[in-house]
Amino acid sequence: MYSTKIYKIDENNIDYNLLKNISKYIKDGKLVAIPTETVYGLACDGLNYEATKEVFRVKNRPFDNPLILHISNIKQLYNLVEYIPKDAYKLAETFWPGPLTMIFKKSKLVPDTVTCGLDTVAIRMPKSKITRAFIDFCNTPLAAPSANLSTKPSPTNASDVYDDLNKKIPVIIDGGSCDIGIESTVVDMTEKIPIILRPGFFTIEDIRSIINKGKYDDSIINSEKIPKSPGQKYKHYAPNAEINVYIGNDSISKIKELSYRDMKLGKKVCVLVFFEYMDEFKNINSKSLGKQDNLIEMSKSMFRLFRECDRENIDVIYMQGIDDVGFGKSIMNRLKKSSCGRVFNIDGGKNE
Ligand code: TXA
Ligand code: MG
Repeated sequence: MYSTKIYKIDENNIDYNLLKNISKYIKDGKLVAIPTETVYGLACDGLNYEATKEVFRVKNRPFDNPLILHISNIKQLYNLVEYIPKDAYKLAETFWPGPLTMIFKKSKLVPDTVTCGLDTVAIRMPKSKITRAFIDFCNTPLAAPSANLSTKPSPTNASDVYDDLNKKIPVIIDGGSCDIGIESTVVDMTEKIPIILRPGFFTIEDIRSIINKGKYDDSIINSEKIPKSPGQKYKHYAPNAEINVYIGNDSISKIKELSYRDMKLGKKVCVLVFFEYMDEFKNINSKSLGKQDNLIEMSKSMFRLFRECDRENIDVIYMQGIDDVGFGKSIMNRLKKSSCGRVFNIDGGKNE
């Protein structure tokens, strides 16, 4: 058991000495929570067999769900993969550092604990300057899944990490709130036509605009299909409260009707709607998803709001969804999982 320390680091005035000191934990095979532009990660030395095993234990993560290796420099990629397809170079040039994870054939250097026995490895270069400087000091790629307990919403600030991992890890690096709030886009580059295994900030349109190809894994289009990415088949991102997501013209009146019904039944309700609709919910416990035309506000806040609802012992969440296109598709991908498929288009049945 640890007494978990939180070290605050300012992205605009990085305390490199402090980062260097914290890197000793990684060298000792310990775990450190790190900020990234997407969500917080639970990092360890990605080439250390025992340390990577410990990540699974601490998160209570299924042993068939592989980890992402985080690098700070393109040169680190060469030793970790068997070859780099041309398209991967192009994507790296445009989107790294940033919220893109690419899957490559792995080299012998990568331990089986990282890849869960697969012959491929996931690699990403995060945007956060703090984290790239930290990787430099650690002098090794960092294996880092999201820093939540398995099945919980990914943490988007240091205190949400603390809630899940207090006493379980020695250090959290607090780099403030994450800019994006949902996990990176995962693209399998080992196929002729690269496959998006997990949608994120970068959309299929963004990928195609650079390499003129790219398709979704079948499971993203049809949730009955088994996902190619092992992690995508598990229950995910879910608070204790039951989540119901509504899209369509009548969603606001439906959310209102159901909230009043449940409140009468004695349930603790929370409504999550766009800022523009907050006035309509003055008499109901409600929280804002930000402005409707700025989806990044929604992605940035939704996991934090789910965790807030858990702290307030909310029984049921009624929430506004969005159109399943562009970045909205990535947000809805997470919401389908958080709500266990309870996404309703009330203009015409279930949204699938
Ligand atoms: O934004 C992110 O990607 C964050 C931050 C911390 O970087 N990390 C993250 O890690 O979301 P995690 O472990 O929660 O999700 C990694 C996803 C899982 O769905 C996993 O199954 C998939 O990537 N993955 C990892 N290696 C893979 C591989 N070799 N083949 C297919 N999918 C893989
Ligand atoms: Mg995760």
